[in-house]
Amino acid sequence: MDLMQGLLTRRSVRKYHENKKISHHEIKEMIKAAQYAPSAHNTQPWEFLVVEDKEDLAKFRVLQRASLFAENASAVILVCVDENKAYKREKEGWGYADIDGSAATMNLLYAAHALGYGACWCGCSPMTKPVEDVKAYFKLPENIRPFSIVVIGEAEGEVKQPETRYDETKIHFGKWD
Ligand SMILES: Cc1cc2nc3c(=O)[nH]c(=O)nc-3n(C[C@H](O)[C@H](O)[C@H](O)COP(=O)(O)O)c2cc1C
Repeated sequence: MDLMQGLLTRRSVRKYHENKKISHHEIKEMIKAAQYAPSAHNTQPWEFLVVEDKEDLAKFRVLQRASLFAENASAVILVCVDENKAYKREKEGWGYADIDGSAATMNLLYAAHALGYGACWCGCSPMTKPVEDVKAYFKLPENIRPFSIVVIGEAEGEVKQPETRYDETKIHFGKWD
């Protein structure tokens, strides 16, 4: 798939053919793409937990309600950030962990699309309870924070595309007005 075409045609997919396995080779290809994302100071502070067990997939209904459709997915890849690795300025109260997590999540979504799968980014951070619950359920180490819940499967039915999202009024050249 042409990169530009991929960028324009990726959509959130929430309906999947049930009981389909994705090979670990393809899962690793997706994660490889995620690991090629940019990160602040090139810290690459990501970790990935692959969830395939049916019972665990069904548990997302409780862990983060809006990701309940994970129960019919082939896998969830939990994109996590390592708080000890991400670039931060503690004195100034900011850090890049979530931004790096976003970049990795986007690469993962595009790689899933390129390999012919449907996927959906479901939020985890910065929602306090899902972060705590996901962390406890999957026994993540203290320094590892679950950032996004990427649900992946074989799309069932037509994946609808918007007529357009291109909006020239949001483009500003030079100074704003
Ligand atoms: C940070 C973030 C959190 C999201 N959380 C959820 C979610 O919990 N459940 C869900 O079904 N979709 C979730 N989405 C997907 C959005 O609803 C989706 O990207 C948006 O409707 C645009 O559709 P598209 O991805 O097909 O372009 C999330 C997207 C982002 C970026």
